[in-house]
Amino acid sequence: MKKMVNFHHFWWWFLILTLGFLDFHLINGDNDDLFTLLAISKELKLDDWNQDGLKNNNSNYCSWPHITCNSNNFVEKIVLSHQSLQGNLTLLSTIKSLKWLDLSFNTFHGLIPQSFGTLFDLEFLDLSYNKFDGSIPIEFSNLKNLKFLNLSNNLLMGSIPSELEGLVKLQDFQIYANSLSGSIPDWVGNLTNLRVFTAYENELSGKMPETLGAFSELQLLNLHSNYLEGSIPQNVFANGKLEVLVLTQNKLTGSFPDSVGKCKRLSSIRIGNNGLIGNIPREIGNLSSLAYFEADNNNLSGEIVQEFAQCSNLTLLNLASNGFSGIIPPVFGEMINLQELIVSGNSLFGEIPTSVLSNKNLNKIDLSNNRFNGSIPRSVCNSSRLQYLLLGQNSLTGEIPNEIGNCVKLLELQLGGNYLTGTIPPEIGRIKNLQIALNLSFNHLHGRLPPDLGKLDKLVSLDLSNNQLTGDIPLALKGMLSLIDVNFANNHLTGPIPAFAPFQKSPNSSFSKNEGLCGYPLNTFCENSNGIQSFHHKVSYKTVLVVIGSCLLVFTSVTIVVVLFMMREKQEQMAKTVGKQDEEVIDDDKPLVILGNVFVENLKQAIDFNAVVKATLKDSNKISSGTFSTIYKAEMPSGLTLSVKRLKSVDKTILHHQNKMIRELERLSHLCHDNLIRPIGFAIYDDVALLLHQFLPNGSLARFLHESSKEHGYKPDWPVRLSIAIGVAEGLAYLHQLAIIHLDISSGNIFLDSDFKPLVGEIEISKLLDPSRGTASISAVAGSFGYIPPEYAYTMQVTAPGNVYSFGVVLLEILTTRAPVDEEFGEGVDLVKWVQGAPTRGETPEQILDAKLSTVSFSWRKEMLSALKVALLCTETTPAKRPKMKKVVEMLQEIIENK
Ligand SMILES: *[C@@H]1O[C@H](CO)[C@@H](O)[C@H](O)[C@H]1NC(C)=O
Ligand SMILES: *[C@@H]1O[C@H](CO)[C@@H](O)[C@H](O)[C@H]1NC(C)=O
Ligand SMILES: *[C@@H]1O[C@H](CO)[C@@H](O)[C@H](O)[C@H]1NC(C)=O
Ligand SMILES: *[C@@H]1O[C@H](CO)[C@@H](O)[C@H](O)[C@H]1NC(C)=O
Ligand SMILES: *[C@@H]1O[C@H](CO)[C@@H](O)[C@H](O)[C@H]1NC(C)=O
Ligand SMILES: *[C@@H]1O[C@H](CO)[C@@H](O)[C@H](O)[C@H]1NC(C)=O
Ligand SMILES: *[C@@H]1O[C@H](CO)[C@@H](O)[C@H](O)[C@H]1NC(C)=O
Ligand SMILES: *[C@@H]1O[C@H](CO)[C@@H](O)[C@H](O)[C@H]1NC(C)=O
Repeated sequence: MKKMVNFHHFWWWFLILTLGFLDFHLINGDNDDLFTLLAISKELKLDDWNQDGLKNNNSNYCSWPHITCNSNNFVEKIVLSHQSLQGNLTLLSTIKSLKWLDLSFNTFHGLIPQSFGTLFDLEFLDLSYNKFDGSIPIEFSNLKNLKFLNLSNNLLMGSIPSELEGLVKLQDFQIYANSLSGSIPDWVGNLTNLRVFTAYENELSGKMPETLGAFSELQLLNLHSNYLEGSIPQNVFANGKLEVLVLTQNKLTGSFPDSVGKCKRLSSIRIGNNGLIGNIPREIGNLSSLAYFEADNNNLSGEIVQEFAQCSNLTLLNLASNGFSGIIPPVFGEMINLQELIVSGNSLFGEIPTSVLSNKNLNKIDLSNNRFNGSIPRSVCNSSRLQYLLLGQNSLTGEIPNEIGNCVKLLELQLGGNYLTGTIPPEIGRIKNLQIALNLSFNHLHGRLPPDLGKLDKLVSLDLSNNQLTGDIPLALKGMLSLIDVNFANNHLTGPIPAFAPFQKSPNSSFSKNEGLCGYPLNTFCENSNGIQSFHHKVSYKTVLVVIGSCLLVFTSVTIVVVLFMMREKQEQMAKTVGKQDEEVIDDDKPLVILGNVFVENLKQAIDFNAVVKATLKDSNKISSGTFSTIYKAEMPSGLTLSVKRLKSVDKTILHHQNKMIRELERLSHLCHDNLIRPIGFAIYDDVALLLHQFLPNGSLARFLHESSKEHGYKPDWPVRLSIAIGVAEGLAYLHQLAIIHLDISSGNIFLDSDFKPLVGEIEISKLLDPSRGTASISAVAGSFGYIPPEYAYTMQVTAPGNVYSFGVVLLEILTTRAPVDEEFGEGVDLVKWVQGAPTRGETPEQILDAKLSTVSFSWRKEMLSALKVALLCTETTPAKRPKMKKVVEMLQEIIENK
């Protein structure tokens, strides 16, 4: 304190000497405040205040921006959010009259000043969205008047101090998105004014305070994504004022309290991904405001209570992956606002509820993986705007009704794994919007394929495998222009496979087990019945041979390396894995890999599945961890090093789509390009899927751009960056040439080998994930935030121009060394908008580029400006204005050639 005063005086004198000309006469107020504010403006480089104070001779700080005074001219409120500020804040604590301090959305870092604990009048403190680290200062316990405390989105660690029990007036307490650990202290439960408590996305553990909500009128409780244990305290609902409850992704156990029925205003309950047991209380029907109920991935059981039907505002009901049994209550048809009903992965049976299907607002019904029997009702799409009809893996019987053709809004139709009989109704061809998948596999369908299927020109995935379909594959199917993934296997189809790119690019397993089928990609030649047909075959064989040839080249060089490794290995070690790939591999102690394969013939002997699995069990092997997967380094006994991607097991759909995934991987493993990471193989056990790739020692482009430069100082490396950009563009151009669209282009999915040659990865991942899952859906379908093309919002389709856009974002990252989304750009502004907004902000292109690179030489600067032009073309808002990927490659190569 004493030091503080001295320091303060120092400033006072300093300012007297330098600013002696200022005219001080505030009626009340405090001249000390003036000097403090000027000193702060200097420290924080806050031009607004310097401008008024120094240039305009305006000593009346009460009229300065960001400041509000009380009637006695004492500073009462300072709002400095979104100013890109940093610096030492300690001085602020000398403005003792402060009641309201908002420093959110800046780049303050280091510890939160303890001296804030001396601002005894403070009622509102918002330090959110900064980079403060260390722990929450216990000095805050002195802020007896504090009502609003927001420390969210910082880098805070340690536990929530028990000393803060003095904050008795606290009303809003927000500390989400930090790294806080330990348990939630009891004093939080004793607060009598608490209305809002958010601590989600931390590392909190232990039980919630038993009294949480008991003494207060809690309205919002959001603690998702922590490690909380124990049961949900009854008291949370005690006051009946709760409106939003989010506890998703914790380790909560016990049953869901029936006191929930008291909360008439509760509109959102999200308790998914926990270990909750028991029934859903019938009192749920008392929640007339309930709009959102999500309890998937728990161990809830019993019947689905019909009281839900009383919640007339219910919009989403997700009970997937629990132990529910019984039927779907027919009264569910009364929920006229219901848009999504998701009950997959339970033990439900009975008929598909027609009353629910007749609901006009229903958008998605997911009954898959249950025991629903009965047939598909003819009234299936009489009135609804259904986009997702997911009935796979049930016990449905009867025929697919012709009325299925009324479902014109459908994006996805899953009927696989049932006992459906009859023929495929030609009316399916009327579902012109069908895009994501049409799956009729594993049924008892017979008869010929209706040529009308060819009208489905947006459809990406078609699976008719494992039925008793007969006749030939109609030439009309060539109308399915968007197809990537087809499966006709295990039917009785006959005749030549039509010469159609999506068919020819499929693995032969897509057509296998049809005695009568012939032609590429099968190994059986067709009898020469039709000259044109066989000519086509010759052409495609030629291209295929070229492709296979270049693959062989790659394989050969790999082989040599592998053989060298193998020579060092003992024979027995090799014998262990040989020939076991396609069947169960049982280890001595416990069964590990249920299913696995290595696509690259010459690597088969070098890969040991058990070693792969064991590597993923050790944290020390972890390379990186993302939303959907964790990547490990795995050393094989043969000496080979692999990168193993473990898909997060919560996504059980991966297992449901196992065969599809395997075919997809097989197909991708045939891609040959220097700048693409191909899958080498896979292994599946329990509910875990592991994908094998080559190991790349230099990590991702994102790390190269955004992390390694921070760690090891800065290396001006424009030529390296330009060649990375060209390599990525070449890899993508190759994919587009094969009509393959990448679903998740980002710098995090581009990897660098030891020579900094880029390899585009994650070619396979997005397709394997269920696009319908909660908030992840957008990134699962369309890529990572900041890279998603603007048109995706209304088309919901990733296209080649969309890929060009995402590449443009990567190129901007390379040019600016900035992340695609950054709070510094301001609210709602991403890298693209920030760059596009440069002219309006009066900034030149040079101010956008990473100055550490562009100032190295004139020629670097010139090249960077040319590359910036390319990036701007790629990120054009209108997809049609963006260049093709091939053209992008040419433009980037020109930059090098014009040196
Ligand atoms: C501020 O006041 C000083 C002294 O009175 C004067 O010299 C100066 O021109 C003034 N500046 C402005 C911008 O009015
Ligand atoms: C901030 O300034 C105060 C004096 O105003 C000083 O005591 C403190 O050490 C400074 N903090 C940092 C992190 O530089
Ligand atoms: C921080 O929390 C306070 C109190 O709940 C709230 O008023 C404020 O808007 C929050 N700040 C941000 C940036 O969300
Ligand atoms: C909370 O309240 C209970 C009962 O009123 C009391 O026994 C306990 O000491 C309080 N705990 C804290 C940390 O204030
Ligand atoms: C709450 O629900 C229960 C069980 O459904 C019912 O018996 C009770 O009458 C309801 N209470 C109110 C106030 O609606
Ligand atoms: C149902 O939702 C509508 C629209 O959001 C709202 O106006 C109405 O108050 C809600 N009904 C209840 C009982 O909360
Ligand atoms: C789920 O509940 C059933 C019985 O209700 C129990 O047998 C099973 O062990 C539980 N599973 C988990 C993972 O808790
Ligand atoms: C469906 O299954 C239930 C329960 O096993 C059975 O009672 C019912 O008769 C079945 N319905 C049909 C149409 O097979």
